[in-house]
Formats: sequence, C-alpha cells, structure tokens
Amino acid sequence: MYRLAVLLSGRGSNFEAILKAIESGFITNGKITVVVSDNRQARGLEIARKHNIEAVFFDPKGKSREEYDRVVVDYLKQRDVDFVLLAGYMRILSEFFVRSFKNRILNIHPALLPSFKGLHAQKQALEKGVKVAGATVHFVTENLDDGPIIVQSVVPVFDDDNEESLSKRILKTEHKIYPYAVKLLVEGKLSLKDGKVYIKDTKKEEFFVSNPAIGGSDGV
Ligand code: GRF
Repeated sequence: MYRLAVLLSGRGSNFEAILKAIESGFITNGKITVVVSDNRQARGLEIARKHNIEAVFFDPKGKSREEYDRVVVDYLKQRDVDFVLLAGYMRILSEFFVRSFKNRILNIHPALLPSFKGLHAQKQALEKGVKVAGATVHFVTENLDDGPIIVQSVVPVFDDDNEESLSKRILKTEHKIYPYAVKLLVEGKLSLKDGKVYIKDTKKEEFFVSNPAIGGSDGV
C-alpha cells in the first residue's frame, strides 16, 4: 500500500475526488496519509480532518522557496511518503523538492499542456480562441507545468464561454482523470522513457473503455 501526500492551497476538490476514489475502491493500492498546505484557511485541510487524515499547515512567511520546501520535504520523509500529489498547490517547487521525490510527484493543470502553462490557463485558452480545452495530469520536473504527460481530458469550448464556465467544465473532467492517473501510478502501470510516459498493458482497443477522460468508466 503506497503512502500518498496531497499538497494543496485552497478548495481541494481534486483531493476530494481522489479520496472518494480510494473510499469507493477504485484506487486500491494507495492511501492518502497526509495533506499539507501553505494556506492555513485551505478548505482542503478541513476536508482532510473530517476524514481523519493528518492535515498540516506550514507557514511560508519569511522563508525562501527552498527553505520552505526543506521543511515540507523533511516532514514528508518523516511520514514515509511514497508519492506527492499536487492538487491546486499554488507554489512552484524548488529543485531541491523535485530532486527529493524524483519522478514521484504528480500535478494537475487545467489546460492541454504544453499549451497554456502557468496561471489562468483557462483564460489564456479563451483568449486564443481554441475550440477544445482540457486538463493534464503530469509528472513534475524542475520546469513549471512541463513534465511528462500521464493523462489528458478534452472538453469543447463554446462561443459564449467565459473563464468561469470553461473552468467548471474542465474541473469536472479533472475529477475523473486525476483519480485515474493515481490509480495507474499505484498499480505500477506507468513507465517513463525519454521524457514520455507509457501506460503498461493498455491495448489500443481498450483505450476508450478504460480511459475515463474519454467517456469510459468514470472512475468514481
Ligand atoms: C484546479 O483547476 C487544478 O487544475 C489547478 O488548481 C485547481 C485546484 O482546484 N492546478 P481544487 O483545489 O482541486 O478544487
């Protein structure tokens, strides 16, 4: 059973989706043992406490990026964490953090990477007039929103969309693909080669059935 840590800064709806997927038995080989936040008020911390999951706030005030990350990494190591899941974590990780959990950190970004990295991805997409948008779960590397892609979802963009309506449509799919990516991870189905992720044992004809982003089993 792998020990998972979730790092978040706010609402925590992706954390909640992963938690539900574990509670419903969709994910069987991992459990969330700690939730960490840089925001004392994060709703995600409350959700964790309600589920009796250790939830801690580390104050970033007065600390450099690396000093702060050393505090968090120390704590995660103490708790024997195997994988780190970023879920709406508003801090860029230092090289130190990324190296400490090399190829063991996942993130979700509300855009079809490599397009629209960084903040306000949905707004960036609307401003470009794209006709489809989506979300991406990827491994975290030293470069922002740039790591090997694990799963992506696609949604349409309509003429009358605004940032809110598009974000909502994308978020719904985030709640499917993040649990799915975590499931693949803890089942040992992900392999990395030349900066690309390969999913073991998925045959082309099964792809549409097994991929919740495309309308197969919706996971939770
Ligand atoms: C999501 O849109 C995620 O893609 C982005 O931050 C948002 C977090 O939402 N990285 P929540 O806290 O999981 O509800």
